Amino acid sequence: MRPLLWLPDGCLRMALCLTFLLGMQQVEARSDCPLQCDCYNLRVDCTRRWMLYLPETVPLTTRELVLPQNRLTELPPLKISYFTELVHLDCSFNAIEMDEKFIFPALDKLTYLDLSYNLLTVINHQTFSQLERLLFLNLSGNPMIKEIHVQAFTKTHLLGYVDVSYCGLATVSVDVFNHLSNLHILGIKGNPWDCNCTFLEFCSWLRQTRHGHHATPRVELIDRENITCNTPAKLQGWQIFTAEEAVHDECFLHVHLVDLLTVWLISFSIFVGGTAVAGTIGILTVVYCHPAIKVEEEEEEEEEFNY
Ligand SMILES: *[C@@H]1O[C@H](CO)[C@@H](O)[C@H](O)[C@H]1NC(C)=O
Ligand SMILES: *[C@@H]1O[C@H](CO)[C@@H](O)[C@H](O)[C@H]1NC(C)=O
Ligand SMILES: *[C@@H]1O[C@H](CO)[C@@H](O)[C@H](O)[C@H]1NC(C)=O
Repeated sequence: MRPLLWLPDGCLRMALCLTFLLGMQQVEARSDCPLQCDCYNLRVDCTRRWMLYLPETVPLTTRELVLPQNRLTELPPLKISYFTELVHLDCSFNAIEMDEKFIFPALDKLTYLDLSYNLLTVINHQTFSQLERLLFLNLSGNPMIKEIHVQAFTKTHLLGYVDVSYCGLATVSVDVFNHLSNLHILGIKGNPWDCNCTFLEFCSWLRQTRHGHHATPRVELIDRENITCNTPAKLQGWQIFTAEEAVHDECFLHVHLVDLLTVWLISFSIFVGGTAVAGTIGILTVVYCHPAIKVEEEEEEEEEFNY
């Protein structure tokens, strides 16, 4: 029998070659596990391998990529973007930095992202805007995150778990989380919270969601009792909801005072305005309907009668 590759028909040979090559690639994709890692069932586990870079040969069909406790300093967006099947990405305990221009590439299936204990600095409106399927986001242990952009999670509207414990947050806006109707678990402890009137708003929101208003999500705080204020000095170390009560009065009194002043000012204006108008009318009345003139007229009338 003649070997297949010597077939005279060029087209057939080409097709066979292609099939052969494609087959080879598939075998490669299935069997190519990075040397340092363990691969099993579309899961690639490279935990604690002193890796400085993402391994080159991670199969593109990987669904779970587990990379904690390495020394990665970056997540190259282009490389990451090839893992279109990725559902679960754990990069915790590395040294990953992301600057303000970093946009996490669109991974349509990614639901779980753990970036805890890295060197992240900025979470802006773009950072996670392409991860529309994200359910779980762990950013805890990134003490250089000082701020979360108000629109940071507008596109990741399915988020149910968000952990920003042990970051550098002094304040956060209600609007960051308010629209996340699936939000169920929120971690915020270990941040240097500034328990001022702005923060009061956030605490009130947390209280409301906890007490289960129908329109708002029900949010459980991780380790609720141990979330404390850092500033002002008189509230340092206080549990946030205890502090909130104290701050509440101050903020409320402040608002009350401003209200009182406003009411007083308006009343005063009305009084002054009223007095001025009344005075003017009075003067006009006196000028145009002077009794002396009337008396003269009456006298004239009387004279007429006398004839
Ligand atoms: C986030 O990561 C930290 C450290 O890896 C872990 O302790 C914490 O439980 C995680 N948060 C959630 C909500 O799983
Ligand atoms: C409250 O504290 C935060 C963070 O320190 C600050 O950005 C904000 O302006 C403060 N708000 C008020 C009303 O003082
Ligand atoms: C939380 O606070 C309680 C009481 O202050 C303390 O006993 C406990 O160890 C704290 N838990 C954590 C995880 O810090």
